[in-house]
Amino acid sequence: MSEERFMDKIIEVCLRRGFVSPTAEIYGGAGGFYDYGPLGTLMRQKIIDLWRQSFVLDEDDIYEITGSTLLPEAVFKASGHLDSFDDPLVQCEKCKSMFKADEVIKGVTGKSAEGLSLEELDKLIADNNINCPSCEGTLAKTRDFNLMFKTEIGSTGGINGYLRPETAQNIFINFKRLANFMRNKLPFGVAQMGSSFRNEISPRNFLIRGREFEQMEIEMFYDQDKENEHPRFHEVADIEINLVTREMQEKGWKEPLKLTTEAAVDEGVIPNQYLAYYLALETEMLKAIGIPEDDFWFRHMQDHEAPHYSAGNFDLEADLSLGHMEIVGNALRTDYDLQKHAKASKSTFELTMPDGKKVVPHVFEPSLGVGRIFYTVLEKCYREDERGWTWFQFPPTVAPLEVAVFPLMKKDGLAELAQEIHNELKDAGYLSFYDGSGKIGKRYARADEIGIPYCVTVDYDSIKEFSVTIRDRDTMKQIKLPIEDLEIAIGELMDGEADFEEFNQES
Ligand code: GLY
Repeated sequence: MSEERFMDKIIEVCLRRGFVSPTAEIYGGAGGFYDYGPLGTLMRQKIIDLWRQSFVLDEDDIYEITGSTLLPEAVFKASGHLDSFDDPLVQCEKCKSMFKADEVIKGVTGKSAEGLSLEELDKLIADNNINCPSCEGTLAKTRDFNLMFKTEIGSTGGINGYLRPETAQNIFINFKRLANFMRNKLPFGVAQMGSSFRNEISPRNFLIRGREFEQMEIEMFYDQDKENEHPRFHEVADIEINLVTREMQEKGWKEPLKLTTEAAVDEGVIPNQYLAYYLALETEMLKAIGIPEDDFWFRHMQDHEAPHYSAGNFDLEADLSLGHMEIVGNALRTDYDLQKHAKASKSTFELTMPDGKKVVPHVFEPSLGVGRIFYTVLEKCYREDERGWTWFQFPPTVAPLEVAVFPLMKKDGLAELAQEIHNELKDAGYLSFYDGSGKIGKRYARADEIGIPYCVTVDYDSIKEFSVTIRDRDTMKQIKLPIEDLEIAIGELMDGEADFEEFNQES
C-alpha cells in the first residue's frame, strides 16, 4: 500500500460518510480549508471535550477564555509575528508556481532544510541543481513570505488587522486582567480553544496543514525560580513518556527513549516540571483516544526549528503514513511575550509575590492541533480485514456515534420498539443512531465503517421475551440480554468496566 494511497483511503471515507470535506467544494474548493460534516463535528467535539476536561476543568488554577480571531497590527508588531512569522518562498521564473523552499529541497535531497537562512537555502538549491517541481523551470531567489492573513479594519481602513496565527496572543494581551482574576498568584494557566489562520505557501496533507485550523492551547504562567515546583507533578511522576533527545537525533535513532517524567526531569532530559507535567497529560490523552503509545514521542527540536518566541520545544510527533508529523507543539516561551507586550503597550506585567519579590512570569505552552489529532485518530483506527468492508476501531471516547439500534424488520411492532429503545438511549446521554432500512448485514457494515462500537438489534424475541442482541464491532460477536439491562450494559462496555465476552457469561 503506497503512503499516498493510505491517506486517500481515509479521505474517501471522510467525504462519503460525512466526516470532513473541502470548503466551497462545489466551486473547486479553497486550498487548505475544510468543513467538518455531521460525524466529523461529533468526533471533533469529543476531542475538544476530552482536552477541556483533563487540561482545564480538572485543574483549580486554569480557566478558559474565548478571544477575537482578528487582532490589530500592534499585537503582532510586539509579538514578533510581523517580522519573524515567515516561510521561505521560492518562485519558478517560468510557470510562476510558488513553493516552500525547504520542502522543495527536502523533496530532492531527502534532508530537512527547515529553519535555514535564505542564503543557505539558495546555496542548497544551486548546489543540488534543483529546478521547479512543476515545469523544471529555473527557480528565482528565495524570499521571506509572512504567513499572516492581513485585512483592514473599518469602512475607511487605516487600521491594519490580522487573523491570529495562534490563539496564544489573546491571552498575553489580556494578561493584566487575567492575573487580577487569578488574584495575582502564581502559578496559573489560561486556556483557549479556537481557530487560527496561516496563509501557508503550500497547504497539504488534508487536515495536517490547513490555512484555517483549530488549536487547544494553554499558557501556563509560573515563577521561573520555582520551575520545579509544579503543584501536581507528583501525580504524573510515574507516567512513562517517549522522548527523542537532540543527542539521539545527531546519532540517528530508531526507538524513542522511555522515561518516567520524574526521571526525565531528574536526568535533565526535560528542562522542568511544567513541561514534563504536560507531556504526561498529552501522553494519557492520546492513548485514551486510540493512538498506540509506541506511535508517538516528544522530540527536542533543534534551535533552528523552534519558533521565534521559544527557548526550546518538545513537540509531539506521530508516526503517520506520511512520515513523522508534528501533532502538538510544546514551547518554553519564557517571559518573551509578556516582556514584548509590556514594552510595546508601556505597561508592566510584573506581579508581586507574597514575599515581596517582583516576577514577570515565565510561560510554558502546550498547543494541541484539533485537526491533526483528528486525522491521527482516523489513521490509527482505520482497519481493513477479512470482513469485506473497512471500519474504524474508534474507542468510545472519540467514536462519533456510540450505539446503533436496528429493528430486524419494520413490521410487527419491531420498528416502534427499536425507536423507543433508541430514544431511551439518547435520553440516557448516549450518541445513538437509528437505522431501519436494508439487510441487517449491510446495516452492521455501515455502522462499522463509521466506527460505531455497539449495534443493538430488536427482533421477535424482543417482543416475546423482552431481550435484544448487542453486537460488538471489534469481534463481531453477539450477546443477548434483557432490554431493561441494556443502558447499564452499554455504559459498562463503553467505560471498559465490562468485557464483552465476560458480560455474555454473566448475562
Ligand atoms: N502557539 C503555538 C503555535 O501556534 O505554534
